[in-house]
Amino acid sequence: MKKIRTVIIGMGRMGVTRYEAMMRHGGFEIVAVCDTNEKLLAGYDAKKYLEWKSCIEEVKPEVVIVCTFNRVIPDIVCYALEKKIVVFSEKPPGRTLQDAERMRDVQKQTGTVLKFGFNHRMHNSVIEAKALIDSGLLGDVVCIRGVYGKAGNPNFIKEWRNNPELSGGGILLDQGIHMLDLMCYLTDSDAHVLGSKVDNLVWKDLQTEDSAFAMLETDKGQLLSLHSNAIQWRHKFDMDIICTSGYVALNGLLTSTRSYGVESITYYKKDLETRTGRLGKPREYTMCFDEDCSWALEMAEFYDAVVKGKEIKNGLPEEAVRVMRLIDAVYRDGERRYECN
Ligand SMILES: NC(=O)c1ccc[n+]([C@@H]2O[C@H](COP(=O)([O-])OP(=O)(O)OC[C@H]3O[C@@H](n4cnc5c(N)ncnc54)[C@H](O)[C@@H]3O)[C@@H](O)[C@H]2O)c1
Repeated sequence: MKKIRTVIIGMGRMGVTRYEAMMRHGGFEIVAVCDTNEKLLAGYDAKKYLEWKSCIEEVKPEVVIVCTFNRVIPDIVCYALEKKIVVFSEKPPGRTLQDAERMRDVQKQTGTVLKFGFNHRMHNSVIEAKALIDSGLLGDVVCIRGVYGKAGNPNFIKEWRNNPELSGGGILLDQGIHMLDLMCYLTDSDAHVLGSKVDNLVWKDLQTEDSAFAMLETDKGQLLSLHSNAIQWRHKFDMDIICTSGYVALNGLLTSTRSYGVESITYYKKDLETRTGRLGKPREYTMCFDEDCSWALEMAEFYDAVVKGKEIKNGLPEEAVRVMRLIDAVYRDGERRYECN
C-alpha cells in the first residue's frame, strides 16, 4: 500500500481522532504534527511544530490534515492548495460563507484535491437511510424534522467554539451544520430559508447562540425544520423523514462517549388498508449499530481520491459552500451577526 506523507495541523480532539483513523487505515505516514499547544505534541513519532507555515514549508508533505480552530482553517487550506498539497479539512469550512467560497475558488484554480470532514454522512444509520430513500421503497421525501441538541457543560461559555472571533458562530455552525448537510444530502437538493429564530434562550452570557430554529424548503419543494441547540441538557440526535409512502427515523448517534445514545434507523411503510391489522401502528423495522465507521470511511474515500484518483463524493468544496450559504441565511434571517476579523 502506498503511504502518503501527511502532516496534521491541530492536535486537539479531532487531530487525535483523525490520527488514529489514518493509522488504522495504513496508507498514511504521519511525518509531522503541529499545534500551538506544545503539550499536545508529546508522544508522537513525528516531527513537531508549533507554527503551521514552517511545518508545511519544511516538511513539504503530500497531504495536510487541518483540525484547528475554525478561524485558521481557510488560511491553512488555501496555503497548502496553492502549493499543490492535497487537503483534508475539518468542518466547518471556516467561519463564514466567504471563507468557504475562498477555499472553493482556490481549489478550482489549483485543481488540487480538497475534502471537508462531514463525517455524519458516513454514520451507519445515515448510510442506510440514504440507500432506503434512494431505493424509492418509501416514495418521495416530503419533509424532514431534525433536532440536534447538546447538554452544554460548566466550561461552555469559555470554550473557543463560543468565541465568535475563533469560531464564527455558535451551536448552529458547530453542530447544526452536520444536520443541514444531511438534509441536503438525503434530499439530494439545495434549499433556501423560509424563516429562522436564532437566540440565547438560556445561556444569556454566551457570545454565540444557544438555539437556532430554522424552517427551510428544498429546490424540490420539500420542507425541512431544524432545531440546533445547546439547551437540551443531554445529547440528542433525532431526524424524522416523512415520505409519500412511508417514514424513516434516525435516532441517536454512535460517538466515542456514547452520550447520544444507541444509533438506530427505524422505518415503516404507509399501510392505510391495514393489511397488518394495525392502523396507526404499522409494522416497523429497526436496525441498531454498535460501530462508528465514519472516520474510517472518510479517510478511505480521501486516500482513494489522492492515490487512486477516484472521485470524491462527500465533503466537496461546493457542498461546503452550499451548507455555509444556508447557515449564513439562517443567521441573517435570525438577525444574528458575528464580527469575524
Ligand atoms: N467532524 C466532526 O464531527 C467534528 C467534531 C468535533 C470538532 N470538529 C471540528 O474540528 C476542528 C477542531 O475541533 P476540536 O474539537 O478538535 O477542538 P480542540 O480544541 O480539541 O482542538 C483544536 C486544536 O487546534 C489547535 N490550534 C488552534 N489554532 C492553531 C494554529 N494556528 N496552529 C496550530 N494549531 C492550532 C489548538 O491548540 C487545539 O489543540 C474544529 O473545526 C471543529 O469544528 C469536527
